[in-house]
Amino acid sequence: LNKQIIGVFDSGVGGLSVLSHIHQRLPNESLLYVADTAFMPYGCKSEQTVQDRCLRITSFFAARQCKAVVIACNTATAAAVYQLRDTYPFPIVGMEPAVKPAMQHSRSKVVGILATSGTLGSDKFQQLKQRFVKDATLIVQPCPGLVERIEQGEHGDLNNEAMRTLLRSFLDPLVQQGIDTLVLGCTHYPLIATMIREIVGDSISIIDSGDAIARELERRLDIRLDIQSVGKQTEPQKTQQASPIEFWSSGDIQHADVLMSRLWGNPVKTKKLPF
Ligand code: DGL
Repeated sequence: LNKQIIGVFDSGVGGLSVLSHIHQRLPNESLLYVADTAFMPYGCKSEQTVQDRCLRITSFFAARQCKAVVIACNTATAAAVYQLRDTYPFPIVGMEPAVKPAMQHSRSKVVGILATSGTLGSDKFQQLKQRFVKDATLIVQPCPGLVERIEQGEHGDLNNEAMRTLLRSFLDPLVQQGIDTLVLGCTHYPLIATMIREIVGDSISIIDSGDAIARELERRLDIRLDIQSVGKQTEPQKTQQASPIEFWSSGDIQHADVLMSRLWGNPVKTKKLPF
C-alpha cells in the first residue's frame, strides 16, 4: 500500500488540532506538518498573500511526492482551495466551519461562530451561510488577537489570565444573546477548548470540524485505489508503531519546539522551512 506522505498545513500550530484527528484515524500514514508561523496570522492578511503562501507550501509537499494535502486552516481554505485544486493533481482536502451540523443541532436556532476576519469576510463563508442558515440566527464573532496569543503560548502554556480576558470579550456577548451552539471556525480555537468550555458553561454545545476533515481525507484516499491509505484493511495492531510525523515551521524553531511539544503531548523537533 501507498507510503507517500500526506502534507498538512496551517498558518501556525492551529492545524495540530486537525492533525491529531488524522493521526488517530490513520495512524499508519506518514504525515508532514507545516506551520507557516512567520506569516501568521493569515486571518487579517489579503487573500492574495494567503494564496501565495498556500501555493508555496503545497509545492513544497509536491516536491516530496505527497499523495494528498490537507489545508488544516479555515482561512487558507476560503482563500485558496479552488486555486490549489486547479494547480495540483492530488486530492486537496479543505475545511470549512461546521455551520451545517451546528444548524441541525441547535434547538434555540441561535448559533454563534468564532472565526478569523478572513474566513468571515470570504465569499465561501457567504455561500455557506446562504446554504445552511435558514430560519435561524448565526451570530458571527471575529477574534482579533486570539491566534497571535495562542501562538505566543508563554512557555507553551495557553492557560493564562490574558487569554481568558480576551476570550471572555468574544464569548460573553454570544452567551448573552442566547446561543445554544458554538462553532469553532478556526483550527486554533480547539486548542483552548477547555477554557472556552469554562467560560460558556455546560449547556452550550461546542462544535469544530477536525474529525469531519479527517473522515473526508480517509474517504478521498479510499476512492483512489492508487493512493489508498496504509494498513487500513486490518485493525491497527497495538504492537505496530504509528508512523512518524515530521514537523516544519517557517518561524522560530526553538519556540515551535516548545509550543508544539506541549500541544502535541510528545517531544517535537521542528525543521526550518526554507521559504
Ligand atoms: N488556523 C486558521 C484558521 O483555521 C487561521 C489562523 C490565522 O489567522 O492565521 O482559520
